[in-house]
Amino acid sequence: MTEPKVSPIAARAAGCPFDPAPALYEALEDDELRRCPVPSPMGEFEAVVVTRYQDARAVLGSDQLRMGGAMPFQPGNLMSYDGEEHTRLRRRLTGSFTTKRARELRPMIEGVVADVLDGLEKAGPGSDLVAHFSMPIPTQVICALLGVPYEDREEFQRRTEAVLDVNSTFEQQMRAVAEVNAYMGVLVARHREEPGDDLLGGIVREHGAELTDDELAGVGNMLLIAGHETISSTLAASVALLLRHSDQLAIVRDEPDAIDGAVEELLRFCAPATILPRKAAGEIQVRDRVIDEGEFVVVSALAANRDLESGEDLDRLDVRRPLLGHLAFGFGPHQCLGRQLARMELRVALPALLNRFPELRTAVPADEVDYRTSALVFGVNSLPVTW
Ligand code: HEM
Repeated sequence: MTEPKVSPIAARAAGCPFDPAPALYEALEDDELRRCPVPSPMGEFEAVVVTRYQDARAVLGSDQLRMGGAMPFQPGNLMSYDGEEHTRLRRRLTGSFTTKRARELRPMIEGVVADVLDGLEKAGPGSDLVAHFSMPIPTQVICALLGVPYEDREEFQRRTEAVLDVNSTFEQQMRAVAEVNAYMGVLVARHREEPGDDLLGGIVREHGAELTDDELAGVGNMLLIAGHETISSTLAASVALLLRHSDQLAIVRDEPDAIDGAVEELLRFCAPATILPRKAAGEIQVRDRVIDEGEFVVVSALAANRDLESGEDLDRLDVRRPLLGHLAFGFGPHQCLGRQLARMELRVALPALLNRFPELRTAVPADEVDYRTSALVFGVNSLPVTW
């Protein structure tokens, strides 16, 4: 088997996959904007690497930066649009993803988490936490929100993996996208006839006349893919991380008031979306350096989250740390649409797991945990646990 290619800028330290690789720390230290090769299904490309937190915010907030051009275009997927077109589409969706809406979903999320924990208990010690906890929770939540049958999960999870794997070929990725689009197209057609009460039905009811079937299917796909893989990865990575830091785990388990801040710290530390790729549509000034028009740009959320210029020791996990900004949800016009939903799921699921299984520990030695560092979203492939 060939080793998956990992861009030097997405690389994590050998032996501690939560830490940036030494080359990323070096890039943080020097004053240059380095350029480095980035593997992608569209072929390897060279990109300007942005590692510092303030530079990342300046660049991601620049109106000269484009999403389109760095990834294949998909109708309805916000990440394929920029400028006015992006704003117009995003405005149609923001009402479904407010803090208030996430709060209203809390009882439903608590119900899903309780059922999933029953399932984990039944599966017994030695079970894989990814299969029995981190994947079913966000998958059930997003299926319920979109009105997607949960029985279809294996199919769309397989396709999501292909879409997010930087080592998929362009053809494999496009095939997976086409399959997900066809699948979602059937749901959209059903909603066109009779819009359901779920989130997708609501979007069809309110904005169906302004959006084509392809765009609606693209919106559904984007939410389905973004809505389960990222949270699942963050949940599993957070548990793996807490199991390496028993004092921090005890705080998450025993101090309900600490959970909101703890979730932000776990997001900062795990940086599940490791890199944010873009293309420069014009010159962008970064301190006294210039990114030229046409250059690809890759922001390292992993590095930037360790460089918040707060003067604190940011390589230490401290779930009681006063709130800092971080780039786990990105920054600027494309900042994560589902971040309040994601936060709510993490705030409910992590303490519930640790309270149900106060003696939770990994069932394999810590250095044998199988981390996923080659995909766009960092996570854990499997995490056998016991209690
Ligand atoms: C812990 C979980 C999550 C993480 C870490 C995460 C991370 C991110 C990041 C970093 C971006 C920006 C990408 C970039 O700028 O290149 C993003 C965008 C996005 N996320 Fe999330 N996400 C999470 C959960 C969700 C959920 C639950 C949903 C929806 C159900 C969602 C929907 C989206 C959408 C639609 C965008 C594109 C926004 C735009 O382009 O305007 N995400 N996410």
